Amino acid sequence: MSQTIAVFNQAGGVGKTTLTMNIGYHLAKLNKKVLLLDLDPQASLTIFFGLKSKELSKTVYESLVQETPLPIHSNIHGMDLVPANINLSAAEKTLSDAIMKELRLKNALEDLPDKYDFILIDCPPSLGFLSIMSLIAATHVLVPIQTQYKAIMGTQQLIDTIGRVRKYGNFQIKLAGVVPTMFDSRAKQEQESLKRIQNAFSQTTVWSPISRATDFINASQAHVPFAHYAPKHPSVEILETIAKDLVEAK
Ligand SMILES: Nc1ncnc2c1ncn2[C@@H]1O[C@H](COP(=O)(O)OP(=O)(O)OP(=O)(O)O)[C@@H](O)[C@H]1O
Ligand SMILES: [Mg+2]
Repeated sequence: MSQTIAVFNQAGGVGKTTLTMNIGYHLAKLNKKVLLLDLDPQASLTIFFGLKSKELSKTVYESLVQETPLPIHSNIHGMDLVPANINLSAAEKTLSDAIMKELRLKNALEDLPDKYDFILIDCPPSLGFLSIMSLIAATHVLVPIQTQYKAIMGTQQLIDTIGRVRKYGNFQIKLAGVVPTMFDSRAKQEQESLKRIQNAFSQTTVWSPISRATDFINASQAHVPFAHYAPKHPSVEILETIAKDLVEAK
C-alpha cells in the first residue's frame, strides 16, 4: 500500500515545498517509487522542477474538477510529478456545489495506474479546502516548522486542524513527524525555539533541524535536489535520515 504524506503547515514559507522535493528525492534514492503532487496554486513545486506552470494544459486542477486521471510527468530526478498552476485557486469555487468535494483527491489517488511506495502532497499555506482535501487523502502528515517564535505560535492551530480531520474525515491519519527548518544554530532565540518544538512534540519524531542555507534557494533555482547542489552540506544527511525513517516506519 502507498504511504501518502501531506506536507502541511498553514504558515507560509516554512520549507514545505523544499522538503517535499528533497525528501522525495532521497526516498527515490532508496529505490522507492515516488510521486510528488503539487496542491498549491502558487505551483512552487512545479516550478522547482523546472516546468513552466503557466504553459501546462493539464494539471491537478483539471483532474479534480473533471474527475479525469492525474497528469503525471515521469522520472524527473527519479520521481514522478503531478503539476499545478494558478488555475487551482478556482477549485473550491468550481466545485462549490459538488457533493463530497473533499474526497476528490483521495479518489484520484486511488485511481492511479502505477503503484507508488510514497506519494508526497505539497500543501498550500492555508487551512482551507485544498489542505483539508490533502489531509483527507493522506495516510500521514509531515509538519515542517520554522525555528522561530512566530512559527511556533501557529502550532496549536495546526494540531487542532489535524485533530478535526481525524475526528470527522480521516480516522487513520497519523503524524509522521516534525521537521524543524531554516535553523540558525548561532541564534540563541532559534535554539530556544527548537527546544519548544521538541517539547511540544515530545510524543512524535522530531528530526534534527535543517539549517538555513542559501544553497537551498540556489538548488531550487537551478531546478535540482539540494543533494545535487551541495552534496557535502550536513543537511543532506538529515534529509537522508528522514527518508530512511519513513521507509522503516512503513
Ligand atoms: N533551509 C533553508 N534555508 C534557506 N532557505 C530555504 C530553506 N528551505 C527553503 N528555503 C527557501 O525559502 C523559501 C520558502 O521555501 P518553500 O517554498 O520550501 O516554503 P513553503 O513552506 O513551501 O512556502 P509556501 O508556504 O509559500 O508554500 C524558498 O525560496 C526556498 O528556496
Ligand atoms: Mg510551498
